[in-house]
Amino acid sequence: MLCYQDPALAGGGGAKIGHRNPGTHTMNRFRYATSQIAVHWLAAALIVFLLVTGTFVLAEMPNTADKTGNFRMHMILGALAAVLVVVRVLLRRVKPRPPAVVAEKWAHLGHMGLNVLVLLLAMSGVALSLQSGVLAAVLGSAPLPESLDGWTLRKVHGLLTRLLMALVAVHVLAALYHQWVVKDGLLLRMRPGKHQA
Ligand code: HEM
Ligand code: HEM
Repeated sequence: MLCYQDPALAGGGGAKIGHRNPGTHTMNRFRYATSQIAVHWLAAALIVFLLVTGTFVLAEMPNTADKTGNFRMHMILGALAAVLVVVRVLLRRVKPRPPAVVAEKWAHLGHMGLNVLVLLLAMSGVALSLQSGVLAAVLGSAPLPESLDGWTLRKVHGLLTRLLMALVAVHVLAALYHQWVVKDGLLLRMRPGKHQA
């Protein structure tokens, strides 16, 4: 059987853990379910990959036929990232919730922001590809449009990527701050590996 947390903390109703209060004992006991941990790290790797390759490869390439394969890969992985986010949100509804921390509201807002940005990115990406003819090119029925620079949706997609980069940076810094400064073991909640029986 999986052991997620001290029963006293179930349902998020546990004792609040102070910011400067190490609280290692209570914090360490909670682990996200294996499925949530797997989805978190798979989605994280995928999203970081899309942000880096989108910025430094896709956006930098001229729209020649060579780029079609890159577009195809970007679209498939982008759609997969959106599916993983939906799975993440569904899992969060059925799995035990983490015990409260003092900054819980901010953490929740931040997590929601990450999920919403990924979904908006996928939607704007699909809409842009449909409108500009990139999807038709990927499906083999037309050449790639010369440039996407004039499309408002291209600007929206680009802006959303910058917002997501900023929020991911805050998220990672917050996780490291908890781990190394507050020392409350927050990172262990997302540590892959066997749950204790
Ligand atoms: C989590 C999902 C996604 C992320 C993180 C992401 C990330 C990016 C990034 C970083 C860029 C370059 C932006 C820039 O430097 O201005 C980009 C461009 C683009 N993305 Fe996405 N994307 C995602 C989903 C999608 C999806 C699902 C589609 C289409 C179905 C798509 C279509 C495009 C297109 C057409 C471009 C323009 C490339 C160019 O100007 O040559 N994206 N994306
Ligand atoms: C790459 C380094 C990353 C680290 C070190 C990291 C670390 C963590 C940790 C420790 C938690 C648990 C926080 C808590 O219980 O309050 C968490 C949760 C979460 N992370 Fe990350 N994360 C990373 C990347 C990402 C990325 C790229 C995304 C999405 C864009 C993301 C989205 C989330 C979400 C939505 C949660 C809430 C838990 C859930 O609903 O599954 N993380 N992360």
